[in-house]
Amino acid sequence: MSDQEFPTDNPAVVTVGLPYANGDLHVGHLRGYVDGDVYARALRRLGQQTAFVCGSDMHGTPIVVNAGDAGVDPEEYALDYHEIYAETFPQFNVEFDNYGHTHDETNTELTREFVRTWVENDHVYEKEIQVGYDPEADQWLPDRFVEGTCPYCGEKARGDECDEGCQRHLEPGEIEDPVSTRTGNPAEYRTREHKFLRLNDFQEYLQGCIDRLEGTSNAQNQPREWIEGDLQDLCITRDMEWGVDYPAREDEGAEDLVLYVWVDAPIEYVASTKQYTERVGPDAYDWEEVWKVGGEQRHGTEWDDDWTDEAGEIVHVIGPDIIQHHAVFWPAMLRGAGYNEPRAIMATGFVTIGGESLSTSRNRAVWADEYLDAGFHPDLFRYYIVSGSGLETDVDFSWDRFAERVNGELVGNVGNFLYRSLLFAQRNYGGTPAADTSDEVCERIEDAIEAFETAVNEYELRTLADVGVELANFGNEYIQRNEPWNLVDDEPERARQVISDCVQLSKAVAVLLQPVLPEKAERVWGQLSEQGSVADVSLDAALETPPAEFGEPTELFSQVEDDHIVGLNDQLQRRVEATSGDEDEASEDDGEIELEPLEDGRIGFESFQDIDMRVGEIVAAEDIEDSDNLVELAVDIGVETRQVVAGLKGLHGLEELPGTRVVLLANMEKAELFGRESNGMVLAAGEDADLLTTHDDSPLGTRIH
Ligand code: MSP
Ligand code: ZN
Repeated sequence: MSDQEFPTDNPAVVTVGLPYANGDLHVGHLRGYVDGDVYARALRRLGQQTAFVCGSDMHGTPIVVNAGDAGVDPEEYALDYHEIYAETFPQFNVEFDNYGHTHDETNTELTREFVRTWVENDHVYEKEIQVGYDPEADQWLPDRFVEGTCPYCGEKARGDECDEGCQRHLEPGEIEDPVSTRTGNPAEYRTREHKFLRLNDFQEYLQGCIDRLEGTSNAQNQPREWIEGDLQDLCITRDMEWGVDYPAREDEGAEDLVLYVWVDAPIEYVASTKQYTERVGPDAYDWEEVWKVGGEQRHGTEWDDDWTDEAGEIVHVIGPDIIQHHAVFWPAMLRGAGYNEPRAIMATGFVTIGGESLSTSRNRAVWADEYLDAGFHPDLFRYYIVSGSGLETDVDFSWDRFAERVNGELVGNVGNFLYRSLLFAQRNYGGTPAADTSDEVCERIEDAIEAFETAVNEYELRTLADVGVELANFGNEYIQRNEPWNLVDDEPERARQVISDCVQLSKAVAVLLQPVLPEKAERVWGQLSEQGSVADVSLDAALETPPAEFGEPTELFSQVEDDHIVGLNDQLQRRVEATSGDEDEASEDDGEIELEPLEDGRIGFESFQDIDMRVGEIVAAEDIEDSDNLVELAVDIGVETRQVVAGLKGLHGLEELPGTRVVLLANMEKAELFGRESNGMVLAAGEDADLLTTHDDSPLGTRIH
């Protein structure tokens, strides 16, 4: 890992949390895979050598339970899901360079090698502990085979994880009031010998590691609490048959133990990279350069500043529930075996449904297949997931929002700009007219490239989508302002200039949006008659002149139809209603709202001055029948009255709105929603759209400072 900006001279690897091979994929899982894919593509865009790897997580108790219920053995059960996943990801344009699984030979061997090295380096010891046992079922009860109460927060928890409360990892024997999930009987505790990885050896190292760690702030901050004081050692073995066997030496008598699933699971990141090298050859991509340091095994718990400079850049993309495993256990596991450390952890927010956590067992989910069966293009989902909110913020999946954003931003803005530009260019000039790109457009594109590079280095995926969309927005405004259709006859040179600028902008939009919309960007590339693939060009290609000749374009996106959404929405709504009557769930919601984390970045006063907010008054409010959320407002801001489309439906009565004083963001970019122009934004707080107003009687149009 280097401390230089991307692109560095070292190879990089991007990984995503491995899916447990025990059920269908839903939009919550897909968030991470899409984010990881976008980030890997963006790194390559910058010229960073990057592998994108993952694999299925085949072990652990839930798979044993589900396989048992299905009457098949765990291997067969998990392999079936593994194959389904491997086929599903490409359908979302998530293209791993290698997709392995934790039960394959590469991972099994590598895992044993890790453990042997820990043992050699004296990081492993044996201890007698109390583990749950079910006398009726006559079996040990590791992990998910017991449920009980979390000793840290008192919430209901599973044997190895406080999944509904504080999200902590729980060690065997820690859970209180354990009940066997096999029989429902209280579990007995019995004494067993198990192996432990001495995390305390790594305490100082981990502190430094977390200080060095880049990525999202949740991954940097949450672990600090866990590594203060004594670190609890990690029990790395389980009384089970399904898993990677503990590499016992004869004299240890540990032949009947398997490794805890969280030992072999992250090692799959390494194994999967290794498999990639085995396929392409070490000259093309060398896994050892990434994971080891100059191919040399090192270990020890002291930090030595220079050794990692030469090693590769490891970036882990994960959901918010597995931060402790990645920011605490994993770096210690790597360090103990002489491996490199992660450069960054990007921990996303959750995907929720109807504001509540997604639940597979309750079928409160939108499934990957459901999305695909609805016939929507994968790039639309990618856009929705990446651009809607910051990486750490929860995203609520709603078909209404999906349709609004696709129709407003992709169809109405990006698609519209590309189509009208290329069509005009093709019809009038047969392609890109000869003219140098104007300074204004050149600067715009250069700024966008810079913003893209910064976003990659700051791990801000949303910006990666926004820069392209904003450039298209600018393009639409540029055409509107220059009216080339009025120039063609009278000022042919000016017309050529304007249209050449627009084609250049179109090309730049394709280059910049490629990580988020890989297939759509490729289509634009083809429409422009560009050579090769847009995936292979660098960012600077955005400034290179497009071909002088190309064919007639077709539209890139099509409108998501309302009746299509109505059906999907009803289906989801029924599911949410069917599952939210549950008492446990309801009590979770009582008055508690989750506050978004504060933005890390500060803005200068100058940026604030760019924001033009005015005192306004709603003078009319009209329903937009086709939309579930939106209403059309007329807002008087003294100098003029603005038409604004706002998401207030169902939250405020239409008849109550006229006469309400509001604050209007007057220089918000115009948008078109449900065919209506929205010229400004009314400010409101929270999910219920609590409207901002003024305290006194400032005249309408007064600027807010
Ligand atoms: N197998 C472990 C990860 C091992 S990584 C060495 C696991 N599997 S999982 O199937 O439960 O989750 C796979 C990935 O999806 C994880 O990164 C997890 O955080 C993420 N998500 C699962 N549900 C999610 C949401 N509802 N929202 C966002 N991410 C979610 O954990
Ligand atoms: Zn807890």
